Amino acid sequence: MMRIFVLTGAGISAESGLGTFRGKPGDGLWAKFDPMKLATPEAFAADPGAVHAFYNARRNNLLTTKPNPAHVALARLETELAKRGDKLFLVTQNIDNLHERAGSRRVIHMHGELLKARCTQCQAVVSWHDDLETTSVCPRCEQISALRPHVVWFGEMPFEMDMISDALSISDLFVAIGTSGSVYPAAGFVAQARAAGIRTCEINLDASDNADLFDDQRYGPASEAVPVWVEEVLLSA
Ligand code: OAD
Repeated sequence: MMRIFVLTGAGISAESGLGTFRGKPGDGLWAKFDPMKLATPEAFAADPGAVHAFYNARRNNLLTTKPNPAHVALARLETELAKRGDKLFLVTQNIDNLHERAGSRRVIHMHGELLKARCTQCQAVVSWHDDLETTSVCPRCEQISALRPHVVWFGEMPFEMDMISDALSISDLFVAIGTSGSVYPAAGFVAQARAAGIRTCEINLDASDNADLFDDQRYGPASEAVPVWVEEVLLSA
């Protein structure tokens, strides 16, 4: 059985019209907005309205976008590998739902999901497509003002780390797609894979911060490079 572990980042959704966080100097979401004022627990405690407004804008933007050929190719990879008894383990740092909308059935969202809210009182995680307000009411416990975006902020632990680490340790191939390799722990997966003797491949627009840790590098837009790579994998025995 061949096990492929794929990690995706903002670059896979760039051609769907969702901005990346980092790019050329002065480019990307974090060049326009200060993450310390919008994506930390302290920022939410100090000004929940501003944090909600930031994620509301991103949620509304997401609802107008659609998956691109890179998402579609990964969904096909999952289906075709399963047919031949192999396995894809797909972990994304993205909080969008474009993998699911392209047909991927199993996606681990290590940084959470934009279309979910979490209650800070009862811990319920609920589907949420509308704007979140400071006065929003938890549908489970009915507490007012306790809902937050179900996303991981700087200073918080990503989700499913134990499961991810276990899956990585038994993989045959680690592939990072559209990620700058600058945010840990995800940025450390390639080193973990190498230490375990697992082959590593990067698919990105240009060299990431970790480029020299990859055995193979494929540079180009994800919508072109990912379908080509998927075809090659499916043609290999
Ligand atoms: P980044 O914005 O840091 O990196 C995106 C990468 O995608 C860059 O290396 C780009 O060169 C590449 N890229 C851009 N367009 C592309 C395209 N069309 N095809 C292929 N690659 C392309 O995004 P992430 O690495 O995902 O965390 O960022 C990691 C985390 O930092 C995010 O999950 C988020 C952010 O702060 C939190 O909010 C906790």
